[in-house]
Amino acid sequence: MIRDEIQKLLCEAAKTQNIDENFCVSFSAMPNLCDFQCNSCFAVAKKLGKNPYDLACQIVEAIPQNQFFTFSVARPAFINITLTNQGLKHMSQVLLSQQFNLGDGKKIFLDYGGPNIGKAMHIGHMRSFNIGEAFKRLYRKLGFETVSDIFLGDWGMPMGLIMAMLEKQGVFDDYYSGKKQLTIEVMNTAYPQASQLKTQDEKFKQRAEQITLFFQQKQQPYYDFWKRLRDVSVAEIKKVCKLLNVDFDLWNGESNASEYVSTILKIFEEKKLSRISEGALVVDVAEEGEQIPIPKKSPDEVQRYENPMPPLMLKKSNGGDKYETSDIATIYYRNKFYHPDIIHYFTDARQNQRFIQIFRACKKSGISPQEQLLLHTGFGTINGKDGKALKTRDGGNMQLSDLLNMLYEKAEQKLVENGTEHDDDLKRKIGNAALKFADLSNSVEKDYNFDVDRVLSFDGKTGPYIQYTACRIKSILSKAPKFEENYSFSSQHKEMLISLNRLASSYRICFENKSLNDLCGSLYDLASAFSSFYNSCHILSEQDKSLQSAHLTLLKIVLKFIEEACDILAIEVPDKM
Ligand code: ARG
Repeated sequence: MIRDEIQKLLCEAAKTQNIDENFCVSFSAMPNLCDFQCNSCFAVAKKLGKNPYDLACQIVEAIPQNQFFTFSVARPAFINITLTNQGLKHMSQVLLSQQFNLGDGKKIFLDYGGPNIGKAMHIGHMRSFNIGEAFKRLYRKLGFETVSDIFLGDWGMPMGLIMAMLEKQGVFDDYYSGKKQLTIEVMNTAYPQASQLKTQDEKFKQRAEQITLFFQQKQQPYYDFWKRLRDVSVAEIKKVCKLLNVDFDLWNGESNASEYVSTILKIFEEKKLSRISEGALVVDVAEEGEQIPIPKKSPDEVQRYENPMPPLMLKKSNGGDKYETSDIATIYYRNKFYHPDIIHYFTDARQNQRFIQIFRACKKSGISPQEQLLLHTGFGTINGKDGKALKTRDGGNMQLSDLLNMLYEKAEQKLVENGTEHDDDLKRKIGNAALKFADLSNSVEKDYNFDVDRVLSFDGKTGPYIQYTACRIKSILSKAPKFEENYSFSSQHKEMLISLNRLASSYRICFENKSLNDLCGSLYDLASAFSSFYNSCHILSEQDKSLQSAHLTLLKIVLKFIEEACDILAIEVPDKM
């Protein structure tokens, strides 16, 4: 990257002056003064007991003459760097030939989505889909091998509740024999009824728990019925994934882990890591210093601890498996069959603590090898524009499907206002772009407020604005005369080139910060840079053919980078809108 090149020039110049220190280069905070800047002279001078301004001058004087950059010193001790026209050309070529190999072929297992069979998907699942999918694409871009798993919640009580409900209504056999067709509507009706009834009717609740245990033990007809419920539900989830432009290599879930549960329990037992506590099987995962003894009230009282990291429960006192256990068993079989170098999870931040517990338990027991990196990204919640939970028009909690329908509907209204013909796919693409861009623009761990009208605007920091920019460039390129590529750029192209550079640098920043906001921000800056260029310059009517071909060459590069960045965010770029 260009910044590395400049940095190298500075460090080498310093070395000729017997100064072996690091000089960092950043994008300019004052683009009207320079393109890049180095602020390191303050710290280095302090360390060496020199005057910062003199040091900056000494280094700049020691840089050999070169055709790409000009260096100058600004008080108190900044080194300002400006690109020459040759430098602009050079930068565009560096950008185009850039290859990322941060991953070095390492294998990353991504666990995201995590919808629960039998229950409607909520907004949190949507965030997991968006963030996880974008990370998968980013990882691939950076040279990692990826495996993605949706990790369905398919082994718990909801399926037992649905079956118990159908049984109570006397239709279980009809659905089992196929006399009645099992559909997602049947499940969507039975589940809320059942979860309501379980709070009032203890016998019903016990029956649902019993059925849950039956299918978990593969007892018929419950196990077969469970499989059918899972199939119907998966077909429905696949439709949503298609809408959201998300896909998975594996459609596994908690159920796939069940056969490894006894193996992992044995590992904990053999390594003497598990113990019985109040009838449940637990593993202590608190680390040194985290076990704080609670002062005893009397000398013969047992020592109790105030424990910021509670033990992880592997088995409930009634013998049932825990959600944590299935996560650990899943890590076990992922390692057995896929050997990932990294496993990266994406869930709501409310699961932060349980992932710390799970990771520690896996490291202690060796289920995750020491060199394996276990990562969890816990994201914040989306609220309505009033800062409160998102609600539907009739005041109910907004589910994922409600949100998508609303977005697509509003996107369609916008298209109608703009006189575009009815187009289902286009409204989906625009609705998704609005959603994903808003979702990924915020630093991942933060809660944020979602204003449907604002995120759908074709202007401002929104997904549709980025799409619209790409469409405008496509339209110019389609109307342009044939041209030879020309990289003779000048100051009028600079803002776009610097923005391109920022965008390309953002991939690494997102990787390091585990948040995609920097990519979204630089993508928006690039779109704005194009917009001001477009407003100040008549590209298609330019008479100077050489200049026109430079404009068009740059537009092609800008489009390529916008498309690439959108692809990472899983935002689809239409041809026109
Ligand atoms: N099914 C879970 C839920 O709805 C999310 C699964 C997250 N992934 C995991 N490996 N635990 O909360």
